[in-house]
Amino acid sequence: MPLKDRRILLIITGGIAAYKALILIRRLREKRAAVRAVMSSGAHNFLTPLSVSAVAGAPPLDDLFDPRDEHDVGHIRLSREADLIVVAPASADFMAKMANGLADDLASAVYLASDKPVMVAPAMNPMMWQHPATRRNMERLKDDGVAIIGPETGEMAESGEAGMGRMSEPEDIAKAIEVFLFGTETKTPLAGRSVLVTAGPTYEPIDPVRYIANRSSGRQGYAIAAVAARAGADVTLVSGPVSLPDPRGVNVIRIETARAMADAVEAALPADIAIMSAAVADWRVQMEGGEKIKKEQGAPPPSLSLVENPDILKTVARHQTHRPDIVVGFAAETEKVVEHAIAKRQRKGCDWIVANDVSPGTGIMGGSENAVHLITENGVEDWPRMDKEAVAVRLVTRLADCFAKQV
Ligand code: C5P
Repeated sequence: MPLKDRRILLIITGGIAAYKALILIRRLREKRAAVRAVMSSGAHNFLTPLSVSAVAGAPPLDDLFDPRDEHDVGHIRLSREADLIVVAPASADFMAKMANGLADDLASAVYLASDKPVMVAPAMNPMMWQHPATRRNMERLKDDGVAIIGPETGEMAESGEAGMGRMSEPEDIAKAIEVFLFGTETKTPLAGRSVLVTAGPTYEPIDPVRYIANRSSGRQGYAIAAVAARAGADVTLVSGPVSLPDPRGVNVIRIETARAMADAVEAALPADIAIMSAAVADWRVQMEGGEKIKKEQGAPPPSLSLVENPDILKTVARHQTHRPDIVVGFAAETEKVVEHAIAKRQRKGCDWIVANDVSPGTGIMGGSENAVHLITENGVEDWPRMDKEAVAVRLVTRLADCFAKQV
């Protein structure tokens, strides 16, 4: 029971999805967590304190100036006692408050007065989710270290509109909480395991000043490395050039070229799990010399001759001496995503492929969300579109499950 006796402070804010907070409380209590709820004033339009009280086993708190609680500075005590603060559903308004440090009611004051980890499950109308103000607030919350789960694509309860904004299902949030709390437990599901992750693009030089690159941001791989580290694994992340900070507790090795990535990966073996999410350049330029190519008056443009780069995933998956127990590859495709990914799994010799559609317009390459299919020996699973952090949580949970079954 990974959540046994873990104290979760659940902040419920206003929105149709508030009813799902009741199911979430149920799921968490089934996992033996202790849940204390705080309701924002907006939440009262959708839920009654009585129903929250009935499922949580204790009345929710909702008044910043309740004299019974405030004599011992209740909002500070509440947040200090928790192992994790979860905001579900998180309305656009409440996320804006969090991002800006407002604290004009108990729910927001609890957040601000806390140094505990925080997880947020947004739920709102698709337009609100896409609005630049919400995008800005999301980025700020991520920079502040807040973990985000969802939202997902689906039909909105209130308007029938379809789009991104539906709160993740309570079961998925409860699972994500379990994974999130890995890193703060003494017994962690990937403790003693080593995980090797590749992420980001590679830069292939054309001459000393120019290079060929791709649009990979490294976000998915960085999120996986961060979650695996929280799950207790010893994580090495071999990263191409990206503008992301090192994930906490992860050994980061920065390289530029595919060949340097191949060398760093080889040096990092043996590992129990390898997750190759880097967008490695398939080809590099065969360089003639070490000088900058000059633009000569009247001369034709230079032609570049390409040679193939080492296939790092294939090398790891078919390694003679140090093949990891589980090798996961990624497949970024723009057409026949699943079909190509199934073939790729065979060709590369890896165990799983995480496949995604990176066609222009999906916003996935370089974006913060991902919609993936997991291809294993048992077939294809279609995962809903969600934040890259949530994809990482699901993937690491699956990996941890595999090891749990082996023991
Ligand atoms: O062949 P393709 O590039 O589509 O395969 C993608 C998968 O292979 C990803 O997991 C990627 O990290 C890995 N790969 C690699 N080395 C290469 C090319 C791809 O590790 N040279």
